[in-house]
Amino acid sequence: MFGAPSMSAVASSVASCARASAARVPSRRGGYAARLGVGAKSARGASVVPAAFTPAGAKIAGVGMELPSQSLTNEDLAALVDTNDEWIRTRTGIGKRHVISGDESLTSLAAGAAKKALAMANVDAKDVDVIILATSSPDDAFGSACTVQAEIGASGALAYDLTAACSGFVVGLVNGVHFLRGGEYEHVLVIGADVLSRYVDWRDRGTCILFGDGAGACVLSKTTDPNDCCLLGFDMHSDGTGNGNLTSKFTSESQVCGTAKPTSESDGAASGVGSFANIAMNGQEVFKFAVRTVPDTLTKSLDKAGVSSEEIDHLVLHQANQRIIDGAAKKFGLGKEKVVSNIEKYGNTSAGSVPIAMAEAVLEGRIKQGDIVATAGFGAGLTWASAILRW
Ligand code: COA
Repeated sequence: MFGAPSMSAVASSVASCARASAARVPSRRGGYAARLGVGAKSARGASVVPAAFTPAGAKIAGVGMELPSQSLTNEDLAALVDTNDEWIRTRTGIGKRHVISGDESLTSLAAGAAKKALAMANVDAKDVDVIILATSSPDDAFGSACTVQAEIGASGALAYDLTAACSGFVVGLVNGVHFLRGGEYEHVLVIGADVLSRYVDWRDRGTCILFGDGAGACVLSKTTDPNDCCLLGFDMHSDGTGNGNLTSKFTSESQVCGTAKPTSESDGAASGVGSFANIAMNGQEVFKFAVRTVPDTLTKSLDKAGVSSEEIDHLVLHQANQRIIDGAAKKFGLGKEKVVSNIEKYGNTSAGSVPIAMAEAVLEGRIKQGDIVATAGFGAGLTWASAILRW
C-alpha cells in the first residue's frame, strides 16, 4: 500500500485531475488508460497525475466460497408447508438450500469464503487494504465486515458493510475495482454473504422455498497497466418506488429510540428492542422486474465494454430463479454450456449467489484466465447491477 498523501498533495492532485479532465476529449472505446489521459502533461510540462494517484487496473486474483453444513431439501420443506418437489423445481429450479446451524453465522461463512479466496490469490490477509462485505443479514446491526476482518487477521484493512441486497456483490465488485483503479491500494477483498434463513417465515410457502445461506468472495489485486483491468464495463441502478415488492421491515412493538419517548433510568425498564420482520415478497412483480431489468442492464454493460454477446464465455447471473436465468440466456443467444447455474443445489443465497457461482465455476475449471464473464445481480431495494469482466 502506498503511504498516505498529505492534505496539500491531495488538494493539488484534485486540482490537477480537474485540469486534466477539462483538457482531454472523452473517448468511449479508447481504453481505460486513454480515457484517463495517462502520461499527459500540463501546460507547464508537469505530470498531471501525481504518483500517489497513478491509475492502475484490477485483476481477480482469487475466489472462494463457503456454505453451511446443513441443507434442507424440497421434501424437507414439504413437511413444513403445502408444497412439493415438483412444483418447486418446475417454478424455480431449486432442489435444496443450505441453512446455518450451531455456531455458524454470517461472519463465519464470510470469513471462510474470504480465507479461501486469499489462499488462491496467494495474498496475506495482512496485505488487504479494504474489505467490502455485501450483505443484508449481518450478525450485528452495525455491520459484520469488522468481525470478518478480525477473524481472518486482515489487521491493516478498512472493513465495511455494503447493503444492496442481491445486487450487493456486483456493486461491491465495481466499488472494489475503483479503489484499485485510483492507484492507492494493492488488494481489495470483496465478499458477498447472506443468511436470509434468519428472516424467512418458514410457514410462507411463497418465500421459504427460495432462500438459502452462503458466502462467496474474491480478491482484487492491482495491476500496473490500466488496460489490464478486469472490469470492462458496468451498469448499476436502483428504484425505491418498487421497494414494497421485497422487504424485511424494521418493526417495534414497544419503546424504541426514534419511534417513541426513551425510557428514563427511574422507569426501571429498558427500552424495547426492535427487530426485522420476516421477508415479504410480491413474487410475480419481482419476477417481472427481473425479466425486464437483467437483459437491459447487461445490454448496457456490454455496450460500455465494447463487447458483443457472442463474445460472452460465461453468463453468471444472480441465482434467484432458473426461469429468469434461462430467459436472459435466450435473449443473448447463449447455449447451456455458457450459463453458470447452481441454483438447484443452493437456492437464492442473495448477496452470496453471484460470488458462489463464480467461485464454483472457477474451481470446476470452467472459468479460465482471459474468459469474458457477464454477470448481473438484482433484488430488493429495488436494485440491479451488471458487469462485464475479463478473467
Ligand atoms: N408450492 C406450491 N404451490 C405454491 C407455492 C409453493 N411453494 N407457492 C405458491 N404456490 C401456489 C400459489 O398459491 C398459486 O396458487 P393459486 O393459483 O391456487 O392461487 C400458484 O401456486 C401460483 O402462484 P404464483 O405466485 O403465481 O407462482 P409463480 O409462478 O409466480 O411462482 C415464484 C412463484 C415465487 C416462484 C415466482 O414468482 C418467482 O420466482 N418470483 C421471483 C422471486 C425472486 O426471485 N425473489 C428474489 C429476488 S432477489
